Amino acid sequence: MKKLLICLLSLFIGAQIMAQEAKTLTAGQDKVKLEFMLDAEGRAGYSLYFSGNTVIEHSLLGIELVNDSAFNRQLEIIGTEKKQVDERWQPVWGEVRVIRNKYEQLTVQLKQKKAPNRLINLVFRVFEEGVGFRYEFPKQPGLKYFIVGNELTQFNLTGDHKSFWIPGDYETNEYSYTTSSLSEIDAWPVQEKAKDIAVRVVPDRYAVQTPLMMKTSSGLYINIHEAAQINYPAMQLHVNRKNFSLSANLVPDALGNKAYLHAPFNTPWRTIIVADQAKNMLESKMILNLNEPSVIKNTDWIKPMKFVGVWWEMQTGKATWSYANDPDQLSADGKLIPNGKHGANTANVKRYIDFAAKNGIDGVLVEGWNTGWEDWFGNWKEDVFDFVTPYPDFDLQGISGYAKSKGVKLIMHNETSGSATNYERQLDTAFKVMTKYGYPAVKTGYVGKIIPRGEHHDGQWMVNHYERVAQKAAAHQVMVDVHEPNRPTGLHRTYPNWMASEAGRGNEYNAFSDGNQPEHETILPFTRLMGGPMDYTPGIFKLKGYSAAVPDRQVHSTLAKQLALYVTLYSPLQMAADLPEHYEAHMDAFQFIKDVAVDWDDTQIVEAEPGDYLTIARKAKGTENWFIGAITDENSRVASIPLTFLDKGKKYMARIYRDADDANWKTNPEAYHIEEFPVTSARVLKLKLAAGGGAAISIKKL
Ligand code: NOJ
Ligand code: CA
Repeated sequence: MKKLLICLLSLFIGAQIMAQEAKTLTAGQDKVKLEFMLDAEGRAGYSLYFSGNTVIEHSLLGIELVNDSAFNRQLEIIGTEKKQVDERWQPVWGEVRVIRNKYEQLTVQLKQKKAPNRLINLVFRVFEEGVGFRYEFPKQPGLKYFIVGNELTQFNLTGDHKSFWIPGDYETNEYSYTTSSLSEIDAWPVQEKAKDIAVRVVPDRYAVQTPLMMKTSSGLYINIHEAAQINYPAMQLHVNRKNFSLSANLVPDALGNKAYLHAPFNTPWRTIIVADQAKNMLESKMILNLNEPSVIKNTDWIKPMKFVGVWWEMQTGKATWSYANDPDQLSADGKLIPNGKHGANTANVKRYIDFAAKNGIDGVLVEGWNTGWEDWFGNWKEDVFDFVTPYPDFDLQGISGYAKSKGVKLIMHNETSGSATNYERQLDTAFKVMTKYGYPAVKTGYVGKIIPRGEHHDGQWMVNHYERVAQKAAAHQVMVDVHEPNRPTGLHRTYPNWMASEAGRGNEYNAFSDGNQPEHETILPFTRLMGGPMDYTPGIFKLKGYSAAVPDRQVHSTLAKQLALYVTLYSPLQMAADLPEHYEAHMDAFQFIKDVAVDWDDTQIVEAEPGDYLTIARKAKGTENWFIGAITDENSRVASIPLTFLDKGKKYMARIYRDADDANWKTNPEAYHIEEFPVTSARVLKLKLAAGGGAAISIKKL
């Protein structure tokens, strides 16, 4: 009996020692309040409030290491720190000239209560529009090299919010968005149907990509993503459809591990942006603010630009990237047999250079200039391209001289077909070619399954690869535009030569598949573009009858909407994607593409609703001129645009490129109307947008 009593007593004392009181810490900024809690089991967690309403209910935080201890319970607080930051900085290029970075930072230093008593910090930055938080592993004796097995971050939502989502695919972000409640999310049928995307891997039926855009029944907008994704895999979100809890799903490597790390190390920031108006969501600069300042000292050579390209003619089947049809069928003298459809031939390239020179378009992209395209895709072949050898009908030296003489810049194309190992081996020679022939920019591409085999586009290995390429490009003073990478997380602040990425469903899907629905471009700014600019390749003028394979294929857009996209889909590298002859048929409309800026001093979101419509006004860098883009989904609507951003009392001339009264994306997409009249800041423009339509406006100060 006595023994039992002692036993019970020691159990009780033990429990007393084990248990601790929950501890709560808070940080706030305007309407946003963050609460950190360490519960009685020593588990870290947080909640988020906006104007007193719960946005994220108490959610757990933690990291599990492979075959090792976890940072998920039995933690104690050994220190806390708070600081306020309010600073301004200027991006090298961007949507606004000056960015304010104002936040309160709460650092919670935690230690495992049991041996090996390792340390981990949780750092929260609370902004006026949300919070970013990350895990930090300080330098410490008990933790040097380690492997992340799982990240345990949760985002417990308060209801069955309306969501704009794409499947949590390890390889691609090129899906159309599905709009549904959280409880209806089911990635597999969407993945199954998306046969137009070459490589798809969606192991978790209930996982979605970030940025995940949501809207609550009370009209609050919530966006979850990440910032500064460096040396760490992309975070997807697993959705619990019953209790609306989201949890981090990190993209694994070939062995199933998530990240190989060496302390000290900081994970990317997990971001939650909250807004009571959709337009505030698009104004947020939180993700950029959470990235580190530029590591490139001299940025004079980084110049936003517009370009045309030998490209759409291959996408639509009029020409080919390859010079021959079969790499194994050679002529008697051992040469490739030309198929007669090769797009990147010298005469054709010169035609594009002439068009660019005549119309003040800065650059020309040429795809299919180099050998390897006969069997470039689908064979998981390692050594496809060498990135230096031109096809016999592409005069590398001559074209470079010709472009220079016309004042036109050439954009290099380095498709890797997913063979990152091969590209890394060739990287030096590839960039030397760019330097030698004066190419200031390169478009890279990763179509296909990744090599190293077993790695994924969005895993740690490839994330490091994309960064290495951006670094190498910077060393050679080359700007980059990456196709098929992981989706951006604001790293263009740190690497301002990393101008744009595709990492989403671009206009090209209208060329080779059923395409993009009219609502697509109203969703992109709230999802894919939250992390950075997108090379969407707008500007298709011939909207029907362009496909060699499917004659009745059409773009789900009017011509005026294609113009508006130059303003609504921000990118410092902006393509005029259609063929010169299609522009030459509508030079009055092409004037807008000639005039529109690619770098801005100011941006005003005029009207916005994801999935429905969007109107944005931007002030061109270093000028008094404004450009406006207004777009709608499949429903016609009247855009209402008060010109209050213009200087009071000053006169301006507005040129409107709008849908003709009888325009309609399906039945009459190329009907537009151009008019010009003087305006002042007192004017409210009311413009009717056709179904699937839009309007573009240029406003010049008089
Ligand atoms: C996919 C890219 O998105 C596209 O723009 C390019 O033309 C092809 N790959 C070929 O590299
Ligand atoms: Ca693509």
